[in-house]
Amino acid sequence: MCGIVGYVGKKNTVEFLLNGLKELEYRGYDSAGIAVLNEKNSDSNIEVYKALGKLVNLEEKTSEAIKNDFNLGIGHTRWATHGKPTELNAHPHLGEYSYVVHNGIIENYKELKDELMQKGHKFVSQTDTEVIVHLFENFNNQLNDPTIAFKKTIENLEGAFSILLISKADPSKIFFFKHGSPLIVAKGKDEGEALFASSDAPLIGLAGDVVYLEDGVGGVVTNGEIEFFSDDYKWSTLPASKQYAQKDGYRFFMEKEIHEQSTVVVDTMMGRIKDNAINFDEIDESIIEGINEIKICACGTSYHAGLTASYLFERLSKVKCNVEIASEFRYKEPLLTKDTLFIVISQSGETADTLEALKMAKEAGLKTLVVCNVDNSSMTRTADFSILTRAGIEKGVASTKAFTTQTVVLWMLALYFAKAKNTISENKMQEELHALREVPKSLVVYDFIHEKCKRLSKRYLHGHGFFFIGRDVFYPLALEGALKLKEISYLHAEGYPAGEMKHGPIALADPELFTIALMPENLLYDKIKSNVEELSARDSTICTISPIPFELSDDYIRTNKFDHYMLEFFEMLVAVQLLSMEISVRLGNDVDMPRNLAKSVTVE
Ligand code: M6R
Repeated sequence: MCGIVGYVGKKNTVEFLLNGLKELEYRGYDSAGIAVLNEKNSDSNIEVYKALGKLVNLEEKTSEAIKNDFNLGIGHTRWATHGKPTELNAHPHLGEYSYVVHNGIIENYKELKDELMQKGHKFVSQTDTEVIVHLFENFNNQLNDPTIAFKKTIENLEGAFSILLISKADPSKIFFFKHGSPLIVAKGKDEGEALFASSDAPLIGLAGDVVYLEDGVGGVVTNGEIEFFSDDYKWSTLPASKQYAQKDGYRFFMEKEIHEQSTVVVDTMMGRIKDNAINFDEIDESIIEGINEIKICACGTSYHAGLTASYLFERLSKVKCNVEIASEFRYKEPLLTKDTLFIVISQSGETADTLEALKMAKEAGLKTLVVCNVDNSSMTRTADFSILTRAGIEKGVASTKAFTTQTVVLWMLALYFAKAKNTISENKMQEELHALREVPKSLVVYDFIHEKCKRLSKRYLHGHGFFFIGRDVFYPLALEGALKLKEISYLHAEGYPAGEMKHGPIALADPELFTIALMPENLLYDKIKSNVEELSARDSTICTISPIPFELSDDYIRTNKFDHYMLEFFEMLVAVQLLSMEISVRLGNDVDMPRNLAKSVTVE
């Protein structure tokens, strides 16, 4: 989820790159950098500027450079996946005489790095990206042909890689390639001008025709002339509005982030399912040695991801697992024993209650792990181990893709522990890995589901409350559905374990009580069916979300058939997110910035 820009032409290159990066800052802001050159200078020196943190820091560093006459450059704003947010890890990355900016993850970087180091290449960063520029120079040193060297580089990379590369070996060129992450190449309005960006916002108003590159398409710009390596490209026009472009055409960031879920989970899993097993570069199996219990602490949506994970840790890894809301944990004088692995979960890594809980566990001498979306946050700096969720920046206050990626990481972690503790058969492991690989499909926003949610939303704007009900992992999902609805619709909603309704809450049942029932085919279907029957008999209005139609439903959101309950879980997650969003839209609320809430809660 980084941002990339590139420019060739007669305008002020540094200014274009900085303005472009500003438009992309929402994609990542732990560091930024640019590399610029004037290819008409005989020594064709490439000047590089990098700065940690927000773009203003880079702007300060380039205040002199902006006055100079460069005519070619590349830039990047980073959201760390491999390696801490430091200046050395910031892009552009340098070899001996070339620079690269990259969006994506190079899955085989370790193998490539080892080979290149044996050949004498010196690496300075902890990133996967740096191998690209060394690989390029390795081929170019042999072939003395930068274009062929670039093509050979691409052939040897695995993973996701959208790239811009410049080199003193041919300073008139910018090489480009798109695979996995977005990249756009555009004709400038002036003669001999070409522009690049990873989304259209930086290009609006400055570019003429553009190509939204497809995976596997690349090429080279020479003195502003764009040449593609293949015929798989199509010129089109840019949208007119920048705001619309930042949201990739969606109405709200929340809507965009719901749609992104099926692609960001690919990043979350990338390099972590290897040789038919789970692999985390950030930890090794010793993390679970001597551990008899897992304790999870988190707040809000992250707490729901933790609760979901507790079922998976016990079921798959056979480790006792309990989950606590961080603000409760802090003051209960908890008993902490050293055979407990303490896991905190946080999108921001800054939530005050979760951070304090983490510090308490550390002080008590427990092994600590954070599952987090922001590297170099207070929590990743505090915990013994961190696993990043790689969701990219989440702008909507109502968390969506953070929850999804947390749940995927925790499911993978449960399998990782299961393997380490030998609590899972090989067959079962392969079934689970197969299901994990299908997760992106289960998160696709299908039009028929979205349309149904839009249509149903008009029936749910009043009444005296909602009960989201589910069993097993669908209980935390019910909690999450209710939280989403509360946050952005301001309607009262509760998540409840379906089997618990008859122990009290069923007294509320009447036609003005809306029950949203999560009814997966692959987990306890008959049990939840009985619970819904009980509510229907008391005249509650029932909306079922299920692949199986149910005769007592007043409303029905049909989901696709999957053969694993976690895939049903993710598809139902998308459905409850969409339903909440559409209800909020009909009520005229601010979907992205609901009243009384903040994205990061850094106070108690
Ligand atoms: O950044 P964190 O994951 O630690 O934040 C925890 C909660 O504040 C957060 O999940 C909150 O509940 C969201 N607004 C939910 O949509």
